[in-house]
Amino acid sequence: MKMFLRKAFSILVAVALTLGMGNSAPDMKQPVRAEEPAMGAMFAMSFHGQGWGQWSPDNLRVYRTHTYPTAFRATLDHQPAGMTGTIQYQVKMTGGSWSGVGEAGQIVGNEGGENAIELAKVWLNGDLANSYDVYTMVMVDGKWMDWVVNGAEAGKSGKYISGIRIAVVSKGKTPAETAETQPAAASGSSGTAFVSHANVDPSKPMVALTFDDGPGEYEGRILTALEAVGGRATWFMVGNLVSSHAAVIKRMVADGCEIGNHSYKHENLSKLSSGAIVDSIQKTNNALQAACGQPATVVRPPYGATGGNCKSALGSMGYASILWSIDTLDWKTRNADSTVSTVLNNVKDGDIILMHSIYSQSAAAAERLIPALVQRGFQLVTVSELAAARGGMTPGKNYGSFRR
Ligand code: NI
Repeated sequence: MKMFLRKAFSILVAVALTLGMGNSAPDMKQPVRAEEPAMGAMFAMSFHGQGWGQWSPDNLRVYRTHTYPTAFRATLDHQPAGMTGTIQYQVKMTGGSWSGVGEAGQIVGNEGGENAIELAKVWLNGDLANSYDVYTMVMVDGKWMDWVVNGAEAGKSGKYISGIRIAVVSKGKTPAETAETQPAAASGSSGTAFVSHANVDPSKPMVALTFDDGPGEYEGRILTALEAVGGRATWFMVGNLVSSHAAVIKRMVADGCEIGNHSYKHENLSKLSSGAIVDSIQKTNNALQAACGQPATVVRPPYGATGGNCKSALGSMGYASILWSIDTLDWKTRNADSTVSTVLNNVKDGDIILMHSIYSQSAAAAERLIPALVQRGFQLVTVSELAAARGGMTPGKNYGSFRR
């Protein structure tokens, strides 16, 4: 059913796009021919402590905010028949020298190692190099740098990259600002929380809906509402509830939602030792890994309590503390009308909205809010997508919003 809805949605999007492009409608005097798939890059990185992320399609962004890449690989999709050449690449590791040249999916770097990728070079050879350019963009210090082209060095010496984006274009063209890939292609079956959807437009308003204290009974209703509009949310889940709700967590991942960590037993982390904080977060990540194949990319300390050892312990694990800028108090009012009006009366670009996924009234509110926010022009993005669009995050710090 879900796949059907998604398919129907992408067809609707395609139809809407076609109808919307009035002044670039195809010239009807030309014979209509089937669109040949354009050649594109596919690329993936292996991250310290986490292993390989999924292959990303051309021009999408792959990044993680609390670890670093140790290995890289790339290949080409839809290479034109009869055209020689391949995609080649090298990386330089922190404290090391340039790797050998890898090509066509070979791994460069050291996937099990401790060193991070500092610089990367990507280029085409053979016939391909005469007809196409390959662009590379990397994230450093939480910010996406400018494109570099055809084998130029991407990155900053002395820093590690935390994300990469690669696009192949016909010679002389520049990569699309947002990839012309339908949302469904960006929300594949695994590891998608780490792929930023190319349909996030940083120049347009966006908010992050966040749901705490699950998983429980109501996530499915909220996901259905998100799927209907191509929206995403971030789910801050309690570790000891995870194993009995693996199916819905897999659905979150498949939908491109972000997996968040809300401690193992909803402890007040500000009252725990550093070791106990790390233990609670790690146990939750282990449960998430077992349920959906990936650990949390973001953490929200229960009660928003970030005192004591909390910030430094989370920082040592590479995490910031994600707080909120709109508190719906849904847990207290248990009133959908009140939750909806609190959000709609206060919402601004860059807000992080706090709700809870364990109350039916909150699910009912979400079912109304999700289309209403889209109607008002907000993109519904994950916390990491919001952060990436608005300057990034630094481990050990608190973030309550990413307003411009
Ligand atoms: Ni909570």
